[in-house]
Amino acid sequence: MSTANQNFDIYELGDFRINRLGYGGMQLTGKGVWGDAPDRANAIKVLRKAVASGVNFIDTADSYGPHTNETLIADALHPYPSELLIATKAGFDRTGPNQWRVNGDPNHIRESIEGSLKRLKKEVIDLWQLHRIDPRFPVEETLGPVADAVKAGKIRYVGLSEVDVEQIRRAQQTIPIVSVQNLYNLGNRQWENVLDFTVQEGMAFIPWYPLASGPDKLKSKISAIAEKHSATIAQIALAWLLRRSDNILLIPGTSSVTHLEENMASADIQLSGDDFAALS
Ligand SMILES: NC(=O)c1ccc[n+]([C@@H]2O[C@H](COP(=O)([O-])OP(=O)(O)OC[C@H]3O[C@@H](n4cnc5c(N)ncnc54)[C@H](OP(=O)(O)O)[C@@H]3O)[C@@H](O)[C@H]2O)c1
Repeated sequence: MSTANQNFDIYELGDFRINRLGYGGMQLTGKGVWGDAPDRANAIKVLRKAVASGVNFIDTADSYGPHTNETLIADALHPYPSELLIATKAGFDRTGPNQWRVNGDPNHIRESIEGSLKRLKKEVIDLWQLHRIDPRFPVEETLGPVADAVKAGKIRYVGLSEVDVEQIRRAQQTIPIVSVQNLYNLGNRQWENVLDFTVQEGMAFIPWYPLASGPDKLKSKISAIAEKHSATIAQIALAWLLRRSDNILLIPGTSSVTHLEENMASADIQLSGDDFAALS
């Protein structure tokens, strides 16, 4: 499936002109998002293929691996094309496969920022996102080192993840917020109000699990329309998100070059108003 002639939709995030069809790196780790990708050579191939296919927005986190995902991205793509935006996150400790412990201690955040810069081999983190708000710390304290890093030129833009409107408003008092990354897909739309708020505030909205962590889970909702478009479930799920709102940036994850190509081709699918309404 060729992607060479596609007209990708662009979203302007600060100075970056982002292809709204990006890539999420989390699948390129071991089981339980722990350790390195089992087939590292393939993981490198997937990342390079993503960029060659037009992806210029890649999402990762210091906690994926932990650390291995950022190192892998640098090994695959450094020196980076100037238009590539790498978005990372911090705010979790990892103690084992599938184990995630929120940590918003400012000391942890400060160390994470320095670690991400080194592992990604970057002088400036393009987009740094707070992975979770830790109720043990006032968010102003957690974001203190982030504001310092922005002032020091080590972080360009700041985003949040898995937050409600009140939490976004409060964080905005400390630092400008350009993006929100919350769980959202055709099967789970609990954050509609946050999506609407990001539109109103001129922020990007980055749905995580855009494919519901496995597109087959969306089959019953999508099959008929997929058939009509001769498209796959994954492609319709992504096309629906692209149509849902212009500020949505997609980060589908895959460890397969074939799936990557398939996902990129969803940019070519034009859902009609009726299709969109039926899916919605
Ligand atoms: N902010 C947060 O708290 C948070 C939480 C979770 C994830 N994330 C971010 O969101 C990104 C996306 O999440 P995700 O990768 O977990 O879930 P996802 O994108 O919803 O789904 C990924 C799953 O779908 C499969 N898949 C992908 N394309 C496919 C296709 N065309 N056909 C069939 N299967 C396909 C993948 O398997 P194959 O490898 O076989 O293709 C994988 O199992 C992550 O990479 C990460 O960057 C953020």
